[in-house]
Amino acid sequence: MNGGMKFFYSSFFAALSLALVYAGCSDTVSDLNVNSEPGVHQQGFATPGSSGFHGTYINNNKLWNLEACRQCHGNDYAGGNTGSSCLTCHNTDGGPENCSLCHGGNGKSNPPKALNGQTSISYIGVGVHAAHLDSTKWSAKVECYECHQELTSFDDSVHIGSNPDGIAEVVFGSLARNSLGGGITPDPGWNRTDAKCSNSYCHGTFKNGNVNAVADWVQPSSVYCGTCHGDPATQNPNPKPNGVYISPHFSYWTLNDCYLCHNQVMNTAGEIIDKSKHINGEVNFNR
Ligand code: HEC
Ligand code: HEC
Ligand code: HEC
Ligand code: HEC
Ligand code: HEC
Ligand code: HEC
Repeated sequence: MNGGMKFFYSSFFAALSLALVYAGCSDTVSDLNVNSEPGVHQQGFATPGSSGFHGTYINNNKLWNLEACRQCHGNDYAGGNTGSSCLTCHNTDGGPENCSLCHGGNGKSNPPKALNGQTSISYIGVGVHAAHLDSTKWSAKVECYECHQELTSFDDSVHIGSNPDGIAEVVFGSLARNSLGGGITPDPGWNRTDAKCSNSYCHGTFKNGNVNAVADWVQPSSVYCGTCHGDPATQNPNPKPNGVYISPHFSYWTLNDCYLCHNQVMNTAGEIIDKSKHINGEVNFNR
């Protein structure tokens, strides 16, 4: 190796480890197998931070299904006949198919961290994923398959497909469609133009719920105690169908009274004590 090359590689390693530290990424580079044969890839293809970096290239050219890469680097990413393995750098479970590589992070596959690297709630690809998955206030964790088709592997056709647009399909599962009866069968809808979710069981389309409630995916404050059931204006969470309180719910009750009949869900202090029994598809009350 000549001096120039040494310099190139040492700064490359420095940049790479910096990038890994910065990204909080668990990938470590132990034994980098860098083949210096020129011309196959553009300059900087292996250099994080470079405009020619392969991560950027994959995103810009929508090559997420990695079929193009596998053609030369092998279906197992071990190098194929290129002699250059992806797995030296991508050495966590699944290699470059690791679920938290392109979206999510820190072992989680859901955003924050969208495909384009954005992490802000106001970006549609991020939205309130965390509020449904990582830090739920009202309910148990909402599984991916309640909003996206369930995928069994990276190559599952419902995942990326042969001609990806980079927009995740929203397909509601059984919870959003759950019916408590009363003539109400929710038909949940996702409107990408205004990033809103409507007619879902979870947010109020159930017997005596706020059937017309709309939840704003990029605006966490659009949902609070009283938006899904009860009166959104007063935040009183008592069910109040058509603006009228009906038995067994009465206007004078406060949160401290719910436990009288819903003691699996609420305590005497008016707190939700078991999130797994709230928004779980059935009314839990004392029998
Ligand atoms: C036409 C065959 C071919 C395809 C397609 C291909 N590669 Fe490569 N790749 C090579 C060869 C050969 C090398 C080793 C020579 C070199 O580094 O240029 C290599 C090396 C690399 C390296 C090591 C970088 C370096 O400078 O040594 C990375 C990273 C890489 N490829 C990523 C990818 C990714 C990501 C894809 C898919 C977007 C891809 N490759 C598609 C042939 C290919
Ligand atoms: C020299 C080390 C190295 C090699 C070899 C390498 N990668 Fe990467 N790759 C990285 C780093 C570092 C990142 C950025 C990781 C991050 O952002 O967490 C990355 C990012 C990616 C991404 C994420 C793109 C996105 O959405 O941001 C994909 C996909 C990927 N690599 C595929 C491959 C494939 C396929 C190969 C083999 C053909 C390969 N990589 C080889 C280091 C490498
Ligand atoms: C409460 C519903 C909901 C749940 C649960 C949910 N998602 Fe999403 N997801 C969405 C919505 C809405 C979008 C934005 C779709 C769009 O852009 O049209 C989205 C977008 C995405 C995207 C694309 C990000 C981007 O950059 O555009 C990925 C990847 C994703 N979700 C993965 C997951 C994974 C993995 C899980 C489970 C761990 C999950 N989601 C759970 C509703 C959900
Ligand atoms: C190489 C990048 C990459 C990796 C690795 C990856 N995904 Fe994705 N994922 C995407 C892209 C791109 C989309 C948007 C799909 C589209 O364009 O239709 C997506 C979308 C999703 C969605 C939203 C629903 C959908 O299919 O549109 C879920 C859920 C998801 N991925 C889960 C996973 C899981 C689980 C893994 C690990 C097995 C994984 N992803 C690994 C790129 C990746
Ligand atoms: C006197 C007993 C009683 C008290 C006190 C009570 N509930 Fe209920 N609640 C019920 C019963 C019984 C049902 C099931 C009604 C049915 O299935 O038709 C129910 C159902 C519900 C539902 C589902 C919608 C519906 O009307 O079926 C919600 C939401 C609800 N209660 C919230 C509350 C809240 C919030 C409080 C405290 C402010 C509260 N309840 C206090 C007895 C009570
Ligand atoms: C995101 C929408 C949403 C919010 C916000 C919400 N609820 Fe509910 N709540 C529901 C749904 C849906 C039900 C119907 C029964 C079920 O699936 O648990 C329900 C039912 C209830 C019940 C009846 C017992 C049961 O089985 O769950 C009580 C009590 C209750 N909610 C109290 C509250 C209180 C107190 C708050 C605010 C601190 C609140 N809810 C906020 C959606 C919501």
